[in-house]
Amino acid sequence: MNARQGWPAHPIIYQIYPRSFQDTNGTGEGDLKGVLRRLDHVAWLGADAIWLSPFFRSPLCDGGYDVADAMDVDPHFGTLEDFDAVVARAHTLGLKVMIDQVFNHTSDQHEWFARSLARDPKFEDFYVWVDPKPDGAPPSNWIGYFGSPAWRWHPQRAQYCLHQFLPCQPGLNHRNPEVHEQLERITRFWRERGVDGFRYDAVTSFYFDPDFRDNPPAEAAQARIPGPANNPFTMQRHAFDMLPEDCAAFIEKFRGWAGDDAYLIGEINDGPTSIETLREFTSDGRLDAGYVVDLAERGLIGEVIADVVQRMGSPGKLIWWLSSHDQPRQVSRVGDGSPRDARMLAALTLALPGPVLLYQGEELGMPQADLAREVLQDPFDRSFWPDPPGRDGARTPFPWDDGVNLGFSTVPPWLPVMRPPDGPASVQSESDTSVLAFYRKAIALRRDLGLGGAGIEVITAYETLFAARLTDNQGGDCVLVVNLGDAPVDIPVSVGDGTTVALSSAAQPSGTQIDARSTLWLQQA
Ligand code: GLC
Repeated sequence: MNARQGWPAHPIIYQIYPRSFQDTNGTGEGDLKGVLRRLDHVAWLGADAIWLSPFFRSPLCDGGYDVADAMDVDPHFGTLEDFDAVVARAHTLGLKVMIDQVFNHTSDQHEWFARSLARDPKFEDFYVWVDPKPDGAPPSNWIGYFGSPAWRWHPQRAQYCLHQFLPCQPGLNHRNPEVHEQLERITRFWRERGVDGFRYDAVTSFYFDPDFRDNPPAEAAQARIPGPANNPFTMQRHAFDMLPEDCAAFIEKFRGWAGDDAYLIGEINDGPTSIETLREFTSDGRLDAGYVVDLAERGLIGEVIADVVQRMGSPGKLIWWLSSHDQPRQVSRVGDGSPRDARMLAALTLALPGPVLLYQGEELGMPQADLAREVLQDPFDRSFWPDPPGRDGARTPFPWDDGVNLGFSTVPPWLPVMRPPDGPASVQSESDTSVLAFYRKAIALRRDLGLGGAGIEVITAYETLFAARLTDNQGGDCVLVVNLGDAPVDIPVSVGDGTTVALSSAAQPSGTQIDARSTLWLQQA
């Protein structure tokens, strides 16, 4: 058990993107009643917790990460009573509930922003307002994650306002104690409604150089922040627009608001040193765990997995994940979208020690959807067309059954529905050989073998192979072997008597080779 009340030490957290999970009121968009209806699926799968992406009041410019009122449910998603019902049902099913805290910025439709723009004294400094340079230019050369200058001119105040994401997402001024009073109210509001944990959005962007010094160019390849090469954001070394010297100490205050029994995680995106930064964020009295984008964005090859394992220090604080609402689905990014590749990735993720995030649809082997320009909704995807980062392609509706719109909605959904190769959930749950059946088996086995709390030692790692010893778990050591290549290779440990195959994502191996594009868990007595 974890020090956090009732939380397992290394939870498997299932991410729900409510807009794409289940529509119950015929709008073509998912809602909280839909989450309620489908929670049994998540419990049946074997997850410990859900993380609900934002359902707060929002103009939905950035899928709800542009919050207009963080203490209310947007009518698209339902009501606060619907949320309470989700929490109650989740708890009945033994699932913990985690929600987002989007504290880096708000929507420009937030009342705070309107009052700040109007220089209402109480709100005047709620956002990061800066005078132009004498020549009218913005205060710095900073570029936002979405590839545009991070400053927006507001004639009403004759000042620039900082936004590290979309121009409609003005950044909150975390150096103003009154902003923190409001954020504390929000945190306490959700704790009182029964929420068990929080995921802090964009937590590495809250603080920055108070003098707004220019970022230098990212000269060396390794200084580049992971991300699409066609985004100028990757061309700067983010020396000044993220985390100045006080680094992560501020998160102790957030821990105080949330309480010692809450499980807290954060999105750490601090470029090439994110793993080291994560250690700062997860030291005592801070977050329980965090996640970085390395595996998703640096390429899922043996060396990168080994690099992350070696740099993270002891396991438990780094959350393993491969897909999310922000990234193209891995089964298509590093694979061919096949059930074979989905099983290989499932067995990789679920063997690694520490918390795990599973993104809705991953358990069905949902490939990335290749969407036409006309259907894209995400402004990030739209502005990079024809080479979009692929967020909407990972957000297509969940395929529940073979009914109309694959059981997601009675009307055409907000993004097209895609049928995964092994079929929708209802079909896969009836089969022993589906991707879904494999995920469920691997989750149960991870728990039986105690892999979540294991140690890890890399045995060998090169582009197409990763092998590691998983130590100190129940029933002796295990060996994880992942063959990312297109040909069988020798298993890099001796597989003599006393070695048993605990799990194989391909056919049961015979002999000393591992199949192409597959993962093995070996148990050594
Ligand atoms: C986080 C969210 C992402 C959002 C961004 C701005 O990275 O995961 O979806 O666009 O923050 O809020």
